[in-house]
Amino acid sequence: MSIGKLFIQYFRNIDNVSIDLHSDVNFIIGDNGSGKSSLLEAVFYLGHGKSFRSTKVENLLKHEKNSFVVSAKTDKNCQLGVRKGFGASASHSEVRIDGEKQSKFSSLAKNVAVQVITPESFILFFGGPKQRRRFIDLGLFHVKHSFSDHWREFSRILKQRNACLRRKADYATLSYWTEVFAESSEQIAKLRDEYVNELTKELSFWLKIMLPSVSDDIVIQYLQGWNSKKSLIDVLSQYRDKELAIGYSLFGAQKFDVRFILNGTSLDNQLSRGQQKLFLLAITFAQAKLIERVNRVKPILLIDDVGAELDIHSRALLNSAIAAIECQVIVTAIDKAAVEQLVPLQENYKMFHVKHGKLSVMSE
Ligand SMILES: Nc1ncnc2c1ncn2[C@@H]1O[C@H](COP(=O)(O)OP(=O)(O)OP(=O)(O)O)[C@@H](O)[C@H]1O
Ligand SMILES: [Mg+2]
Repeated sequence: MSIGKLFIQYFRNIDNVSIDLHSDVNFIIGDNGSGKSSLLEAVFYLGHGKSFRSTKVENLLKHEKNSFVVSAKTDKNCQLGVRKGFGASASHSEVRIDGEKQSKFSSLAKNVAVQVITPESFILFFGGPKQRRRFIDLGLFHVKHSFSDHWREFSRILKQRNACLRRKADYATLSYWTEVFAESSEQIAKLRDEYVNELTKELSFWLKIMLPSVSDDIVIQYLQGWNSKKSLIDVLSQYRDKELAIGYSLFGAQKFDVRFILNGTSLDNQLSRGQQKLFLLAITFAQAKLIERVNRVKPILLIDDVGAELDIHSRALLNSAIAAIECQVIVTAIDKAAVEQLVPLQENYKMFHVKHGKLSVMSE
């Protein structure tokens, strides 16, 4: 899947953008504050129904406007669109596929698998587990189709169990929810384990391209959310009193994490910032490839401010990866020099210039 025509209205500093993207590589060049990240944010919004840099959707609306629109025509002639309106008291979304109203945002997400890498990604990724969980579960959503149903069910059970712990429910009620919670956690953990194994295999290919010097020594450690040598039900019975005292579930599939290990220690202690960025690019490319293989939709990769952290040599490595990925890629940079090593040899790319939220095709 790639996006052809892209239309954006009243999104951040963008008034109206209507462009034809290339199905392979697109470069967006512009000064600080011109609207590069905003453009990527709009594409991301179409795939996720949220931003990658703000939790408040009202921040995305252009000042003094009352609704924004992002729509795109895919290479399969499918028209995807979302309008977000902001009334006096509440906001409302209208999601459409080929003109037909959709009740859920996830119907859009099934059509476009958008992944983003920003200069901040690696701080988030190597910080707390939240981003790593989100990253892995995004892959699972696209690659293991039973995952979203299991996850929805799991979230419902977790809520119920936490409510029981909070109000110190009677023994029988808590035991019931603990049992279904453990069962659901084990199901999720199994799917995640399978997925992390697949991702690890795929990652090795991309690491050989982007981080050849350490590619064979990087290990992904999957932590399922409780001691892997024990069943969750045993762990929960051992910690019953502690959980009752604290009022929520301390173990289970909600607590999973993945760690990236190099030479026995966390990867971010071993690699430079540029190398960490290459690692993140490699794992994102690996995930994109898995999604493509299973879904037969090509994910869209957004790389914001590609020049940040990457020297000429690293950009050349990234170029080889972009040539191999065969996905639609949208790369932003502050000047042409930053993307010089990334321009493909053949004419399978387009370059745009952005200024004050307006885009124009750049001539050579
Ligand atoms: N809701 C909004 N309405 C109007 N303008 C906004 C809104 N939110 C942000 N802006 C402005 O949009 C401009 C573009 O921001 P954006 O982050 O897209 O720039 P950028 O090209 O990515 O810059 P940089 O190279 O510094 O990352 C900024 O000047 C910002 O102040
Ligand atoms: Mg930016």
